[in-house]
Amino acid sequence: MSLFKKKKKIDPAETTRMIRRVLSENFSAHKFSYIKAIIGSLMISGATVFVGYIMRDVINDIFYRQRADLIIYIAGSILLAFVLRGLGSFIQAVQLAKIGNNLAAIYQKRVFAHLMKLGLNFYSDHRSGQLAAQINQNISGMRDLMNMTVTSLARDAVMLVGLLSVMIYQEPFLSLFALLIAPPLILTVTYVSRRIRTVTREVVHLNSHLLGAMQESTQGITIVKAFTMEDQLRGKIDGLIEQAEARSNKIASVSERVTPISEILAGIVIASVIAYAGYRAIAEQQPPGTMFAFITSMMLAYDPARRLARLQVSLERALVNARMIYEILDLKPAQSDRADATDLQVKEGTVKFDDVHFAYHSKDSPEYQLVLKGISFTAKAGETTAIVGASGAGKSTLITLLQRFYDLDSGRILIDDQDIAGVTVNSLRHSIAYVSQQAYLFEGTIADNIRYGRPDATQDEIVEAAKLANAHEFIMRQPLGYDSPIGENGVTLSGGQRQRLSIARAIVRKAPILLLDEATSALDNDSEKRVQQALETIMKDHTTIVIAHRLSTVVNANKIIVMEAGNIVEEGRHADLVTIENGVYARFYKLQSAPQSETLIG
Ligand SMILES: Nc1ncnc2c1ncn2[C@@H]1O[C@H](COP(=O)(O)OP(=O)(O)OP(=O)(O)O)[C@@H](O)[C@H]1O
Ligand SMILES: [Mg+2]
Repeated sequence: MSLFKKKKKIDPAETTRMIRRVLSENFSAHKFSYIKAIIGSLMISGATVFVGYIMRDVINDIFYRQRADLIIYIAGSILLAFVLRGLGSFIQAVQLAKIGNNLAAIYQKRVFAHLMKLGLNFYSDHRSGQLAAQINQNISGMRDLMNMTVTSLARDAVMLVGLLSVMIYQEPFLSLFALLIAPPLILTVTYVSRRIRTVTREVVHLNSHLLGAMQESTQGITIVKAFTMEDQLRGKIDGLIEQAEARSNKIASVSERVTPISEILAGIVIASVIAYAGYRAIAEQQPPGTMFAFITSMMLAYDPARRLARLQVSLERALVNARMIYEILDLKPAQSDRADATDLQVKEGTVKFDDVHFAYHSKDSPEYQLVLKGISFTAKAGETTAIVGASGAGKSTLITLLQRFYDLDSGRILIDDQDIAGVTVNSLRHSIAYVSQQAYLFEGTIADNIRYGRPDATQDEIVEAAKLANAHEFIMRQPLGYDSPIGENGVTLSGGQRQRLSIARAIVRKAPILLLDEATSALDNDSEKRVQQALETIMKDHTTIVIAHRLSTVVNANKIIVMEAGNIVEEGRHADLVTIENGVYARFYKLQSAPQSETLIG
């Protein structure tokens, strides 16, 4: 199921488990930074508590008893306390920022590594733009989670305990009264945090939907402009932006509910204490120092108390982010190696499909539908097997299964008598060179893109592959030759050039099995011929399975497999298949072999 729609009930124990998990996975790596941050926090809290405490002497010794000799010491110690607070804040902030940045980096690496492991089924369920946006938002949320926990616990909790001790030491009865603020505050916070969870998840979804939609619109800008879709898309994006805005406002108004309540409660307590203390001071004629220190401590305590109360609310938001990250990290990659998997040993490269059944969706899904319904055939070593059939017959599916992008529902696929389900995915894919139906190019130079076929290929091998793929000439015409950067998705190249680059990438791989999904897009005659020549060159010494849309490919194939709606309906050489009366292939051939037509089916 898609990560974007999941809504789960969350119990409080799960919250603690999540914090514990994040801490246990990350705390030890940053132990020393945390210790430094905690020392900084202790400096801040110690200095603050001291300022509250010293107020008694300020009032009693300086103002009441008028001890001029003590002024310098008392004033000096207050200055020192603030210097300590400054230093402590600096140490704490720098350390926490470092930890936070490092955590973000670690989770980015972990998530990316995991995304690369996940099977294609994951990617059918998620749009890439949305996924990236979601991950980004959640990772910064995680960073806040760690820092908030540490800051509040180390600084605010320590400070609060210190200040409360000063208060209780000075005025035990009044302190109890001040503590009455706690229960209503806790109730409010609990209520608010519950509300915040749902809204936060919604905001993350909305924002990722929005960013994803923006990315898609910019990627497809040619089509957007050609079909004058600007207004339509703007309408859609504006709608999403407004929803996200409304949701963010909702978060603000829910989470800020804590603020007026805590302010009012604090006001009641502080006002009552001052009134009581005032009357008592007047009645008892006591030096007001103790009371003043008490009130100062109480006011100083208000800030950390308020932050601790809010911590729960902010934590709740950050935990939603953490949970969403772990939903990805906890997904089991679908095509992982079996425990007893061995490396595939290719001697000749015979490929055999044995009664393969396959559906993209699982049996219990409403979308369940068999795409391959019992496919059996053998592609002999060193020969070319062409697959033809109408669009949607299952041709591309067949080729993806041979690379084990999905697991079969039943049946087996064998390479040199080894079941591909029992070999390591890595060794399997190293034995295969694949040219996809749509040429895909990556950010980087032309040479980089060819080298993705085999990272240790030398420059000479890259040039040789490009020559075989009929790409060398146009590459040399690029301003920087092999070092020319490629625009997004290869926009700086023509369709035929992109295809020839992806053929060069397959050639450089030097794998014994070659899988070609011929592009259906029409190329101009010259490009078409060049691509054709490139393919013929490499088909010669590989076991080749080619999904053929071009007549010449099919006519020259050693074997043709004709597919219809997930079944093989005919199999044989061109010369035999054309003679079958009312045969599927013969019919296609007649339809398509009109003098001008060069393409076959699809
Ligand atoms: N990722 C996917 N998830 C779900 N269904 C899919 C997926 N990819 C393909 N299908 C479905 O499987 C069927 C076979 O698709 P496939 O891509 O194998 O056809 P094809 O024979 O290669 O067609 P074409 O000649 O147009 O490339 C189609 O009905 C398609 O809708
Ligand atoms: Mg296809």
